[in-house]
Amino acid sequence: MSIEIPEQPKVLVVGGGAREHALAWRFAKDGAVVHAAPGNAGIAEVATCHDMKADDVAGQVELARTLHVDLVVVGPEAPLVEGLVDALGEVGIAAFGPSREAARLEGSKIFAKELMDRHGVPTAGFAVFDDADAAEAYVREAKRPLVVKADGLAAGKGVTVAKDADEAADAIHRIMRDRQFGEAGARVLIEECLVGQEVSYHVVCDGERYVALAPAQDHKRALEGDEGPNTGGMGAYSPPPVVTPELEAAIQKRVVEPTLAGMKAEGVPFRGALFVGLMIVEGEPFVLEYNVRFGDPETECLMTRWGGSALPLFFGSARGDLSGVETRWHAPASLCVVLASGGYPGAYEKGKPIEGLAEAGALEEVVVFHAGTRREGDQVLTNGGRVLTVTATGADLREAAMRAYAAVDRIAFEGAHVRRDIGWRALG
Ligand code: AMP
Ligand code: GLY
Repeated sequence: MSIEIPEQPKVLVVGGGAREHALAWRFAKDGAVVHAAPGNAGIAEVATCHDMKADDVAGQVELARTLHVDLVVVGPEAPLVEGLVDALGEVGIAAFGPSREAARLEGSKIFAKELMDRHGVPTAGFAVFDDADAAEAYVREAKRPLVVKADGLAAGKGVTVAKDADEAADAIHRIMRDRQFGEAGARVLIEECLVGQEVSYHVVCDGERYVALAPAQDHKRALEGDEGPNTGGMGAYSPPPVVTPELEAAIQKRVVEPTLAGMKAEGVPFRGALFVGLMIVEGEPFVLEYNVRFGDPETECLMTRWGGSALPLFFGSARGDLSGVETRWHAPASLCVVLASGGYPGAYEKGKPIEGLAEAGALEEVVVFHAGTRREGDQVLTNGGRVLTVTATGADLREAAMRAYAAVDRIAFEGAHVRRDIGWRALG
């Protein structure tokens, strides 16, 4: 490896969800002194938490300066799109994540589609509109299922898979006329609807090279059998059997490599985690979206599977030199289950005491990552929609699932909602 890492590096993790808990847990295990902002009750067990919003760019820079950290690792997309990595660079602090310009891959769905178009990356056919009447005329004419997307960030809620023209027109109306997502809805993207299996594919990049992580699969719908409303993710597992070695090679060659080469050729080299959301249609990969950060809950699976120190991966990416960094998996499989508040993704109550955390966390190969939690005295209380991500590793997915659900069964809070079928495509 060609980069030097301080013996006990000081790392600041920006964010406060289960993804950030998994990152902080990993860095602490690897010998780092970890800080987090804002963090949560679980992160506080492995890091010092600071009361600072993730997307407060000036506040996060000031915090990183005061703490004299060696590296900042940015979890969520909003501060990346706002330019946190650029702002840290200006004061000489190394940061893991893309520049503001490169973060447009996620920050503008239209930028992403046009980049794919220029560089031959397979994706659904699309049309772009800045006028609601023209967009509506287009979907009325099309007479087939279409997907309507707000161009900008909409906290994962800007996408409607419309089965008919009325649903599509309604989405256009909400996005463009009502401005449900504000300026994110100034333009709208209308895509062909793809049918297949979704896969999450992560690579870590240094602007030139990339290190491929394992494929994973998320479960975005709230209810068993992939029914009900879309959520931030109710569980994930890795590796999904649909991704054969041949398919993984095709994803790298036809999607990852042209994307990274295209970004570099256009003067916006990509550093940080690139998470490609794919639809596998008859064995072929198509890009649904790019994310410029790690997936949640996929990261909980990836960080528990990782073998050896993860620090070279994060430092190498931030410093632009991943040469010599290789992927090593300590666990063949990992599966995680989200415990959500009753009512999520709609309205839900907070402040419910959580029982059984220590018992669950003591089980073999289980880690309970916190998402929306806070500590009050000696109690941990619910504090968000997704509350916990119970994660287990195993020799195979079946063993990981058994361990994860055994741990889930030790935990209780009023109204807790859990999907019992995480991994069903692999486990039958
Ligand atoms: P996105 O935020 O672009 O990933 O979209 C959110 C979800 O909408 C995806 O996870 C898919 O389930 C679905 N989706 C997005 N684009 C398409 C498409 N072109 N065809 C079918 N489903 C899609
Ligand atoms: N698991 C999907 C996401 O993080 O966007």
